[in-house]
Amino acid sequence: MAVLVTGGAGYIGSHTVAELLAAGEEVVVVDSMVTGHRSAVLGGKLYEGDLRDAEWLEKVFSENDIESVIHFAASSLVGESMKDPGKYYHNNVYGTLCLLEKMVQHNVKRIVFSSTAATYGEPEQVPIEETSRTLPTNTYGETKLSMEKMIAWFEAAHGIKYVSLRYFNAAGAHESGRIGEDHRPETHLIPLILQVPLGQREHISVFGDDYPTEDGTCIRDYLHVSDLADAHLLSVKRLREGKDSAIYNLGSGNGFSVKQMIESARRITGHPIPAAVVPRREGDPAVLIASSEKAKRELGWTPKREQLETIIGSAWKWHQAHPNGYDS
Ligand code: UFG
Repeated sequence: MAVLVTGGAGYIGSHTVAELLAAGEEVVVVDSMVTGHRSAVLGGKLYEGDLRDAEWLEKVFSENDIESVIHFAASSLVGESMKDPGKYYHNNVYGTLCLLEKMVQHNVKRIVFSSTAATYGEPEQVPIEETSRTLPTNTYGETKLSMEKMIAWFEAAHGIKYVSLRYFNAAGAHESGRIGEDHRPETHLIPLILQVPLGQREHISVFGDDYPTEDGTCIRDYLHVSDLADAHLLSVKRLREGKDSAIYNLGSGNGFSVKQMIESARRITGHPIPAAVVPRREGDPAVLIASSEKAKRELGWTPKREQLETIIGSAWKWHQAHPNGYDS
């Protein structure tokens, strides 16, 4: 019996595959390799292809005894989603529909879904709870919310049980140093900060210092990617135990400002990391902090790598050893 991981060659997917393998699970990975990396997949059986390719997906499901699915495969760039919404509806929403229909056909009844804090949009209050209003402010978040809802309707009609995990800011790298973050283009704060001490960037741009926060820069909830991965295994366990479908936030509950992140990176790398304030990036909420109490209570999840030193330190270790990501 295998766990199918879609998008298993991506950043969070590959770290989840690593934890599944460590737990002795049989793993089947599918990835289009559009943004994924072959060498990020540390084991299991790997199929390269697109969920929207019906013939190929049928082969994956008929060649393997799949009992649960963890679904990461999606386009996930907020900026791109605003310029090319059609790509996001097609790849994310239609791709998920293809997957769900295949699961129905093959009687696979469990799915853990990779969702996002972007489903909430601008929060009404922080920390954000799962019952908070969902009002995405970008196409990426809107498609993820649509995917969540589609899965819930498939539960109603076909009995597919789900856990949707709404991530806040995934960060850091696997403790082995073998896998880490490699997005092209890179848009995330920590890898961009670390490009400065690597000599790949002159300075880090701070997107606005006039937000209503203590130091004027945006506050985010950074969570180690391996802690995120752990929550997926616990979600599969929950579904195997026959418990109800559920939605959980995954964050550390701690907020750090952009300036605090840069300051920590200076400490960890020993590099001065020059910073320059530039105008705000469109669509960035001032503060995003998760309440993950529900996940802790119901999944028994406890983040183990919450210190910024561990999060940024593990990312630094990965980027130093792989200055050009998986091409290094
Ligand atoms: N930032 C900078 N300079 C940079 C890059 C980022 O100041 O060069 C700031 C951003 O304005 C933001 C913070 O650093 O305040 C974090 O930015 P990231 O791009 O790393 O992460 P986001 O919080 O924008 O995005 C994350 C996930 C998305 C998800 C989004 C939803 O990466 O997938 O949260 O809230 F959609």
